[in-house]
Amino acid sequence: MQKRLFIKTYGCQMNVYDSARMTDVMAPLGYMPAVSAEGADLVILNTCHIREKAAEKVFSELGGIRRLKRARERQGGRMLVAVAGCVAQAEGEEIRRRAPFVDIVFGPQAYHRLPEMVTRALADSAGGVLDTSFPAEPKFDYLPERLAAPGTSAFLTVQEGCDKFCTFCVVPYTRGAEYSRPAADVLAEARRLVEAGAREITLLGQNVNAYHGAACASGPNGGEWGLGELIRALAELPGLERIRYTTSHPRDVDDALIAAHRDLPQLMPFLHLPVQSGSDRVLTAMNRRHTAHQYKRTVERLRKARPDLALSSDFIVGYPGESDDDFRATLDLVREIGFAQAFSFKYSVRPGTPAAEAEDQVPEAVKATRLAELQDLLQSQQRAFNQGCVGTVLPVLFEKPGRHPGQLVGRSPYLQAVHADSTPDRIGEIMPVMIHAAAPNSLAGAIIARPTAKEECAA
Ligand code: SAH
Ligand code: SF4
Ligand code: F3S
Repeated sequence: MQKRLFIKTYGCQMNVYDSARMTDVMAPLGYMPAVSAEGADLVILNTCHIREKAAEKVFSELGGIRRLKRARERQGGRMLVAVAGCVAQAEGEEIRRRAPFVDIVFGPQAYHRLPEMVTRALADSAGGVLDTSFPAEPKFDYLPERLAAPGTSAFLTVQEGCDKFCTFCVVPYTRGAEYSRPAADVLAEARRLVEAGAREITLLGQNVNAYHGAACASGPNGGEWGLGELIRALAELPGLERIRYTTSHPRDVDDALIAAHRDLPQLMPFLHLPVQSGSDRVLTAMNRRHTAHQYKRTVERLRKARPDLALSSDFIVGYPGESDDDFRATLDLVREIGFAQAFSFKYSVRPGTPAAEAEDQVPEAVKATRLAELQDLLQSQQRAFNQGCVGTVLPVLFEKPGRHPGQLVGRSPYLQAVHADSTPDRIGEIMPVMIHAAAPNSLAGAIIARPTAKEECAA
């Protein structure tokens, strides 16, 4: 009998990828994706623990889910509720205590066992299932080859976990040790995605450029491949028009990756390279293991290889001990580099991480003032970047219908959302778009006719 599965995903793209894989592992058991939790047979919250607010969201969401579960029971049905992801990993016991109606709690490394957990939970109506182990076997080896329809732009996790232990961050604890998938597996999955209609693949990893997977037997270099080599092999896949990767660590940008940016037109000229702070004192305290100067130098080398490279970053303001001068150094770095886009956050205390123990926590009000000032600057850079695109023609990969009828939305090479009037048959195509207008977060334009073969020859 067909059953309904509803997954709500929080946090980073890796959770988006994981949620799609949960759908894949449940499909053979008859679970089909549903658009809402109401009336679903299995509801999964795939959660994020990165900041306090993200983690708290889960508990408020669970209140609503509990009511839906009870309503289902009153109608004589049954709804299993599962909490997955990084909050499950970090606070599994706490979830069981605060929300005992949750049937299954499982961490990011255990979801290949979901069918088994569901079977156990269905058989045992009282106990509940908790699996926050870090299984010895990599889950990737146990996921079905059949993938959910990826759409035009697909995610592909190539690396997971983190050994960097930045002092503010929960990821090394929630995702576990760094692991890179063998290149042959990545290429096989990429091939399947392209066959299923993907035109763009974003390679994912908590530190995707720390990738060091087993090289392909047929590859030119024995042993291991870094991200640069992996991207080079992917660029040979016919039908794969665009390649991106995220998130990178500044320390792991190596020559092979820079060379890939120089040589491969499929590798899009947009890079999310989090710096966190512009102050060396703060960077050292954060255990980032790079200086502001090294970051700038890396950007310089990347821009030399790919002059139109647009940059994005993450920033934390109000890290313990951050002085006004430290914060000014962050503003200076932003002014010097110029970002096309960025995410910035107030430092959030994460229990169990070293920075949580620091005594010189920055007052909330100071964090708020600094965040507002930084965001003003970053937004003005983003507006200027978008405005600079007006009057140019950008190749846009159309992904889906826009908000207005007759409109499609796609992405520029620089990851900007671009709206243009068109028919739905253009979804999945890359079309030249003359940009007419820039909003803070998107562009609007009109598809221009492709040059005819004759015009192209004349050019
Ligand atoms: N692997 C990536 C970051 C993953 S977490 C990297 O190394 O850069 C995504 C972003 O969340 C981080 O870049 C950081 O800016 C932010 N973040 C992580 N922990 C945080 C905390 N405790 N408080 C505020 N922001 C945090
Ligand atoms: Fe977190 Fe640092 Fe690892 Fe990024 S590199 S995931 S910020 S510990
Ligand atoms: Fe959040 Fe876990 Fe991703 S904490 S950011 S979902 S790795």
